[in-house]
Amino acid sequence: MDITDRGFVVTGAARGLGLAIARTLLERGARVMLSDVDGDALVAARETLGHAADRVATAPCNVADEDQVAALFDAAESEMGAVHGVVANAGILRDALLVKSDGKHVTQRMSLQAWQSVIDVNLTGVFLTGREAATRMIEHGEGGVIINVSSISRAGNMGQSNYAAAKAGVVALTTTWAGELARHGIRCNAIAPGVIDTDMVASMKPEARERMISATRVGRLGTPDELADAVRFLIENGFNNGRVLEFDGGMRI
Ligand SMILES: NC(=O)c1ccc[n+]([C@@H]2O[C@H](COP(=O)([O-])OP(=O)(O)OC[C@H]3O[C@@H](n4cnc5c(N)ncnc54)[C@H](O)[C@@H]3O)[C@@H](O)[C@H]2O)c1
Repeated sequence: MDITDRGFVVTGAARGLGLAIARTLLERGARVMLSDVDGDALVAARETLGHAADRVATAPCNVADEDQVAALFDAAESEMGAVHGVVANAGILRDALLVKSDGKHVTQRMSLQAWQSVIDVNLTGVFLTGREAATRMIEHGEGGVIINVSSISRAGNMGQSNYAAAKAGVVALTTTWAGELARHGIRCNAIAPGVIDTDMVASMKPEARERMISATRVGRLGTPDELADAVRFLIENGFNNGRVLEFDGGMRI
């Protein structure tokens, strides 16, 4: 796919991986709608992209809210024209053990709120974003590409019942959509990052972070630019479809 002058929507784009992905797409000549639930950070992010200001638009959006997601795509179409790509990147962590005990008694449990908030953003948010993107792409009739951001935690990771379940669901959505949408010329891929150096990783418990780095064959965190380049490859190379790209520096946990 030649992305020059094509319209892209990136969610969770005020910082971290989303901002790096937006920057990479802009460098390749795309038009990009950056969106995030954090409106202030979105304004600051836009200022870092001054060199491509005429191809950047921003709109705040909570991806867990159906009406806000529809409004985001309305804004993207009116600012940039047809949307040919989306990166469903917004995500949160609310880590906790399923049950924590002192050896004899349970002292803490993952709250329903911690479970539900992660499912709402990381799974329902991807569903709403992908459904809206597919609708718009079918209606303009020129196809497109959907990239969903999963995680290596989708295989299961202690302390992340909510996050692992959501990220496994994201891969299931990806495979399903690749099948359902192929006849409309829409490809769908997922990327499963390992540990990439962003605010989200800085918020992890130091011992969990260190454990993950030491399990990474390259012996360091990935950079947001490396991850963004992998997303670019999934978008530009038209033979990528229906798969999940493990992007983890050779991690085994
Ligand atoms: N950094 C990593 O190592 C890593 C590893 C695996 C997967 N991921 C995934 O990559 C994605 C980006 O992670 P990151 O490290 O850049 O995180 P980050 O916390 O640095 O950035 C996430 C962004 O999403 C936004 N966001 C949160 N809730 C939102 C909502 N309801 N609607 C819209 N935006 C919302 C935040 O405001 C923030 O700007 C996430 O889906 C995350 O699960 C990250």
